[in-house]
Amino acid sequence: MPRALVTGATAGIGHCFVTELAARGHDLVIVARDTSRLESVAAELRERHGVDVDVLTADLTTADGLAAAAGALTSTSRPVDLLVNNAGSSFPGWFGTTDVADEDDQLDLLVRAPMHLMDAALKAMSGRHGGAVINVASVAAFTPRGTYSAHKAWLVNLSQWAHLQYADVGITVQALCPGFVRTEFHQRMGADISGIPRWMWLKAPKVVKASLKDLERGRAISIPSVRYKILATLSRLAPAGFVARVAKRGR
Ligand SMILES: NC(=O)c1ccc[n+]([C@@H]2O[C@H](COP(=O)([O-])OP(=O)(O)OC[C@H]3O[C@@H](n4cnc5c(N)ncnc54)[C@H](OP(=O)(O)O)[C@@H]3O)[C@@H](O)[C@H]2O)c1
Repeated sequence: MPRALVTGATAGIGHCFVTELAARGHDLVIVARDTSRLESVAAELRERHGVDVDVLTADLTTADGLAAAAGALTSTSRPVDLLVNNAGSSFPGWFGTTDVADEDDQLDLLVRAPMHLMDAALKAMSGRHGGAVINVASVAAFTPRGTYSAHKAWLVNLSQWAHLQYADVGITVQALCPGFVRTEFHQRMGADISGIPRWMWLKAPKVVKASLKDLERGRAISIPSVRYKILATLSRLAPAGFVARVAKRGR
């Protein structure tokens, strides 16, 4: 059985990834901070799909949490074939008005954690000549809007490079760039989402299916849905200053 390690597996996009991967017969390592929630997801996946699920409680903003997850990725007895760097959160307020300690936490979770885990995965997978990494970024990567979009742009940039660099050893790297997805994300950060039009919302299971389809096709960037493909293309073709001004007017 192929084995996948998914961070942030208890809610939203990560939970949809583990559900879809288990249905396809993947054994799993599931990572998040809340042990009881992890155990309940693991029990459901084992019962419904008969797959092997390891639970790893880890706060990926801590050195210990990162080391534990990296250790699972470099295991030779239980090798991981697919890493999904998905765990993420944000908080309200624009950079320059926020507490810089909160900025540190966000940077650790959205940049430092995927970097460490991708490092561990690429080293282990290179030795085995195969594997895949999905880095959950965002369409926010294509428009300058504070630190969150800057972190996601960093992840897209590194993923695009790694996609080419590691193709020769049979490793596929993808940056998944969804638009707004109905999950716990906005509620957890206390964001007011009342002004976001309905057409902008995506469903997490569809996002995950699109990502896995694009992975099979070997695409470096996956942008689920036609509407967000168009928006992302426009934001990459339009003059940078114009895009920044439009982004500033948005929520
Ligand atoms: N929702 C959207 O509109 C949207 C759009 C584009 C991109 N994204 C990206 O998609 C990814 C998943 O977001 P989501 O919307 O599915 O969020 P979500 O529903 O809030 O789920 C977040 C998951 O990450 C885990 N997590 C949070 N902080 C963690 C930490 N410090 N260490 C380990 N695990 C942690 C949470 O579990 P615990 O709390 O138990 O740790 C939970 O399982 C994120 O990278 C986000 O930036 C989301």
